[in-house]
Amino acid sequence: MGVCSGGNATLLLLLVIFWSPMIVVSTKAFKLRISCGARRDTRTHTLSSNSTKLWRSDTGYSGGIIGNATRTKSSVIPPLRTLRYFPLSTGSENCYKINYIPHGRYQVRFFFATLAGWKGEPLFDISIQGTEIYSMRSGWSNDDDRSFVEALLFVKSRQSIYGCFHSTGRGDPSVLSVEILQIDDKAYDLDDEGMVLRRVKRISFGTEKPISSEKDRGERFWVPIKTLNQNLSYHYDRCLFTDISIPHSGISPNFYPEQLYQTAIVSTSAHPELSYEMEVEPKYSYSIWLHFAEIDPEITEIRARVFDVLVNDHTFFTNVDIFRMTGRTRSAVVLKKTYLVQGTTLRITLRPKIGSLAIINGIEVFQLIPMEFKTSGEEVRSLQNLKSKLGLPLRLGWNGDPCVPQQHPWSGVDCEYDANRRHWVIAGLGLNDQGLKGFLPDDVFNLRHLQKLNLSGNMIQGAIPGSLGKIGELRILDLAFNTLNGSIPENLGRLTRLKILNLNGNSLSGPVPTSLGARLVHRTSFNFTDNDGLCGIPGLQSCRRQLSIGAKVGIGLAVLLVLLLMLLCITCWVKRRRNIARTKKTVSAHAAREAPYAKARTRSFH
Ligand SMILES: *[C@@H]1O[C@H](CO)[C@@H](O)[C@H](O)[C@H]1NC(C)=O
Ligand SMILES: *[C@@H]1O[C@H](CO)[C@@H](O)[C@H](O)[C@H]1NC(C)=O
Ligand SMILES: *[C@@H]1O[C@H](CO)[C@@H](O)[C@H](O)[C@H]1NC(C)=O
Ligand SMILES: *[C@@H]1O[C@H](CO)[C@@H](O)[C@H](O)[C@H]1NC(C)=O
Ligand SMILES: *[C@@H]1O[C@H](CO)[C@@H](O)[C@H](O)[C@H]1NC(C)=O
Ligand SMILES: *[C@@H]1O[C@H](CO)[C@@H](O)[C@H](O)[C@H]1NC(C)=O
Repeated sequence: MGVCSGGNATLLLLLVIFWSPMIVVSTKAFKLRISCGARRDTRTHTLSSNSTKLWRSDTGYSGGIIGNATRTKSSVIPPLRTLRYFPLSTGSENCYKINYIPHGRYQVRFFFATLAGWKGEPLFDISIQGTEIYSMRSGWSNDDDRSFVEALLFVKSRQSIYGCFHSTGRGDPSVLSVEILQIDDKAYDLDDEGMVLRRVKRISFGTEKPISSEKDRGERFWVPIKTLNQNLSYHYDRCLFTDISIPHSGISPNFYPEQLYQTAIVSTSAHPELSYEMEVEPKYSYSIWLHFAEIDPEITEIRARVFDVLVNDHTFFTNVDIFRMTGRTRSAVVLKKTYLVQGTTLRITLRPKIGSLAIINGIEVFQLIPMEFKTSGEEVRSLQNLKSKLGLPLRLGWNGDPCVPQQHPWSGVDCEYDANRRHWVIAGLGLNDQGLKGFLPDDVFNLRHLQKLNLSGNMIQGAIPGSLGKIGELRILDLAFNTLNGSIPENLGRLTRLKILNLNGNSLSGPVPTSLGARLVHRTSFNFTDNDGLCGIPGLQSCRRQLSIGAKVGIGLAVLLVLLLMLLCITCWVKRRRNIARTKKTVSAHAAREAPYAKARTRSFH
């Protein structure tokens, strides 16, 4: 029985679309289409029907520059005239952020186009919710299937969706459209909220026309492929087509279009195997969906066509008998399984066992990408406040999440992963010599994990926020060559881990806090030179006692009190002297009077 090993049949995961008289109730799904660069809302026609799609103007979603898109004859790329592109002067990371998305599953799709009049295509990276999902490869602008990126993800209530475009230094990222389309809550078994499913391939076999169906909620694009075994002009396979309806093919949750099952490729006896190969990212799991419907009029019973499905030569499904699974002809069946690919190719092979000829109607392949953990919300807010308060230049970007995708952190930001809290934190900020102006915000202490802060060589003014003293991890604080004034906050003395403190080249004044001055000997490097009036440590001027008004008043009062006391004392003394003098006089008078008696008494003891 060929290559299959016995126990594999139990691993089969069959998702048979059963006949059920279910009526599709299309609940109101969230739908937002943005025509990038468009100043007004526009409408375009859909692929096959005469309905139209509404494209919203993109004002307020993103930075970047508006340009004209190169027109294509593609029936897949929306016929929009404008695009938005992002030169490096607007930062290497630019995002579209859509807020207040209702809870549910979404198909997010970006179409790309080249700027009219420009030669060459930009190559850049794309991320959704901070998770990098794709890197554009050269040749995309001539390939309908690679001119857009599509991902399926889960969004929690009132979250936002943000897609970012990351420059890789090979041209300016340029975006034609952004689509956020709600799909069924159970679509594509997206159980794991921590996963993004990126569409790798979606193929309809045996046809030349792309499929578009009104029922197809997400309006998926199916690449048409007519032959799999082609040798010069000779086809070793053949197409099948039926216009008989495949009822209930488009049912919940995936709403597959009926046309998908009305065409197929069948192998011929000259070449019984059917095989399709695609290039993939290595070391990722791929979710593979195979679509079948027995539309060959010659197959009318079970065991008439039985084949194995192999993925990269591993048996995936054994003894697939579509007729047996569906119980009749022209009925849809979907087989689905996840497979970890080590290399860069994913090859799906159908190997006939009975009847010798394989059949296939469609394939979908999704890359399973684990969602990145985000940066601590508190620290993101603190960085955004810093960005606005110090007027960070546009070229630094600072859009999206600071730490993820890990391939593209914000410039000047060092990140660390906190495994306990499952988020990223900011461990360092290097924004020296960026022409920053303004006051250092007080909430900078919310960057609680900061070990290094280098803001030297800017034009930051005002006082050093005392709250910096709350960043207990701080080891390096470089605020040199700014225009900071006022005195050094006493709180900086609480930074016991501080090894380097550069405050030189500012307009600081007043005494260096003794808690800092005392630590100069402990293998630390503190630089306080080139300031207006810092004093009190060796190498600086000694502090002239400058007294505050309060102190002066205090001293004045004290002096007055002392004077009063002295006056009182003197008065007392003078009075006393007088009293004594008077007493003496009286005493001598008495003595003169009483002396004989005294003498006599004295004498009497002898
Ligand atoms: C297009 O519109 C016409 C009338 O406006 C309608 O009769 C026809 O069925 C529509 N075609 C499709 C494919 O929806
Ligand atoms: C785009 O094309 C229109 C004409 O089609 C032209 O008027 C306009 O200036 C172009 N815009 C840019 C940014 O090149
Ligand atoms: C075409 O097929 C024949 C036999 O099937 C084979 O000998 C020949 O090498 C093939 N040519 C190409 C270009 O693959
Ligand atoms: C801060 O940045 C400047 C400029 O790059 C550099 O000279 C200085 O050494 C940095 N400070 C510290 C403490 O690393
Ligand atoms: C510091 O500078 C700011 C403006 O740059 C000024 O408003 C403030 O009064 C100055 N403070 C001191 C203590 O000189
Ligand atoms: C302190 O900074 C000044 C420049 O403001 C520099 O000339 C000096 O060498 C620095 N001192 C130390 C010890 O690094």
